[in-house]
Amino acid sequence: MNPMRSLLLAGSRSAWLERQATTRRFVKLAVRRFMPGETLDEALVAAGEQNRLGIAVTLTHLGENLRDKSEADAVLAHYQTVLERIRGANLNAEVSVKPTQLGLDIDAAMCTEYTRTLAEAARVHGSRLWIDMEGSAYTQTTLQLYRKMRETHTNVGLCLQAYLRRTRADLETLLPLGPAIRIVKGAYAEPAELAFTDKHEVDENFHWMAERLWSAQARANGAWATLGTHDTVLIGKLEGTALRLGVGAKDYEYAMLYGIQRGEQQRLAKSGRIVRVLISYGAHWFPWYMRRLAERPANLLFVAKSMFSG
Ligand code: FDA
Repeated sequence: MNPMRSLLLAGSRSAWLERQATTRRFVKLAVRRFMPGETLDEALVAAGEQNRLGIAVTLTHLGENLRDKSEADAVLAHYQTVLERIRGANLNAEVSVKPTQLGLDIDAAMCTEYTRTLAEAARVHGSRLWIDMEGSAYTQTTLQLYRKMRETHTNVGLCLQAYLRRTRADLETLLPLGPAIRIVKGAYAEPAELAFTDKHEVDENFHWMAERLWSAQARANGAWATLGTHDTVLIGKLEGTALRLGVGAKDYEYAMLYGIQRGEQQRLAKSGRIVRVLISYGAHWFPWYMRRLAERPANLLFVAKSMFSG
């Protein structure tokens, strides 16, 4: 792995660095590039702006690895409010949650119950609940969580990471369910025995996953692919494959992070593709932001610039 990426991902787990960064105004200014604000109100305003540009939204309240049940209770209540506010404002928006934010580290049964409560609330509001994929220590339990959700709810989607060697087999076992899968490359520090380190292999795997979800059999089972990438070369290749397989422009969607590749988001939306932007908000942005820096260390320049301008 690129040494700068390793360093930034290691830093994402440092409580000391988190305390330093989150109290510095210039870091907060740099974060604003990828996050419209810390509050739900700010996220909803940004969601409305995106919708007016013809872009759908996924909302996620930042936070992970909660240790205290009362915090998980608050997260559950928060997302229930989010779903109500989305409906009240008639927004084209869904919600994406991290299992460890719903208490997976505290009590797996509670996490299942809370996720099911949100899946049901999303169903009532006519939308899909997305489950994020975290580091590889959680892959197996997150897959189990998804399977449990599918026993009662079809409106639940799962993120799978193309960098993990196991993902092909995982996708194969899920295909008979007709799953909704958000394919991403993967954002965590993983050892080479678990994850491909070569970009080419990760991209190949991403493309292979889309092709499997677009197979006639998978589509007949109700499978759905959300392509979570900003990689324009990969997008070009995926477009060619969709055309070759006869997959219509409205039969899949692109998902990108708020503030990243805005031009590409608008180009795709204008060309009739479904485009969704993931808006993250909340006070616990540090580990999430460090992963964004690790994806593109050039983003450190924004931190440096805001140090001098702020
Ligand atoms: P890649 O990293 O190859 O980047 C391609 C190009 O995109 C870069 O050259 C650059 O131009 C641009 N780019 C990418 N990242 C950038 C950044 N941070 N800042 C500026 N430019 C950038 N991961 C995970 O492990 N679990 C999850 O649940 C999710 N969920 C998720 C949802 C959605 C909607 C998206 C878009 C991404 C995720 N991710 C994720 C993150 C994902 O795994 C991955 O780390 C990033 O999307 C970056 O990978 P790309 O596919 O964009 O390609």
